[in-house]
Amino acid sequence: MAQVVGAYFTSHVPAIGGAIQRGDQEAGYWKPFFDGFPAVHEWLAEMRPDVAVCFSNDHGLNFFLDKMPTFAVGAAPEYQNADEGWGLPLYKPFAGHPELSWHIIEGLVEDEFDITTCQQMLVDHALSIPFELAWPDTDSWPVKLVPIGINTVQHPLPSAKRCLALGRSVHRALASWPGDERIVVIGTGGLSHQLDGARAGFMNPDYDRFCLDALASDPDALTRDSIPEMVRKAGTQGVEVLNWIAARGALGPGAREVHRNYHLPISNTAAATVLLEPA
Ligand code: DHB
Ligand code: FE
Repeated sequence: MAQVVGAYFTSHVPAIGGAIQRGDQEAGYWKPFFDGFPAVHEWLAEMRPDVAVCFSNDHGLNFFLDKMPTFAVGAAPEYQNADEGWGLPLYKPFAGHPELSWHIIEGLVEDEFDITTCQQMLVDHALSIPFELAWPDTDSWPVKLVPIGINTVQHPLPSAKRCLALGRSVHRALASWPGDERIVVIGTGGLSHQLDGARAGFMNPDYDRFCLDALASDPDALTRDSIPEMVRKAGTQGVEVLNWIAARGALGPGAREVHRNYHLPISNTAAATVLLEPA
């Protein structure tokens, strides 16, 4: 039987890609963030996942403001990275797992989620940066990818409660998958940040700590705020924590934290990296 071995969460600030390209991991500005990653590398070496089910948000690469699926599930044999304007290097292609994608899609539709299925999908920095952080300097990614996109960009956004329910439905699908894959679930983005408007640069360590503390033990606590309330507390882009909430649901009912790193700012973002294991 397939096994969900754990969950990996990290921020996806594009500037991280530039720091990696320059080899700035030990530079003063970047070190406190990159110091969170040896533990991730050791954990992944121990967990040996062969599939990653990754919850992230598209930033205008596949879906622009004219067409915006609330939930989009990739079902492609391969996903290409493309740069939506940050000047990042192009990362190597991501092998898909269409059979597992369709199994997840069928489970979600059976659970009455009205999703968009994507047999072609590009992946942006929200996926390539967390992968490059997790598996640096590899010739090919050691996991097959099932990407799940959540609209955190164009209002109205799905509620946190709906995102947690989506993740839980994905967990049920993973639990009923007859393959013997070892699956890591990934949530990217956040934590608090705001890139535009009057509050540009806004971060909220108190709210971030609340999210990090509840993630493992009480994810339902993260679903009590409305989206406007989450925007107020986390910033307009801090709502990317919806990806974390969905990934937490996909991990399964119980979880324990095995690693946490939190540092701000990285660019305009309060950056966090977390590992959870099923409890
Ligand atoms: C930044 C953060 C993001 O989540 C993103 O998608 C783009 C930029 C930033 O802090 O620079
Ligand atoms: Fe983002």
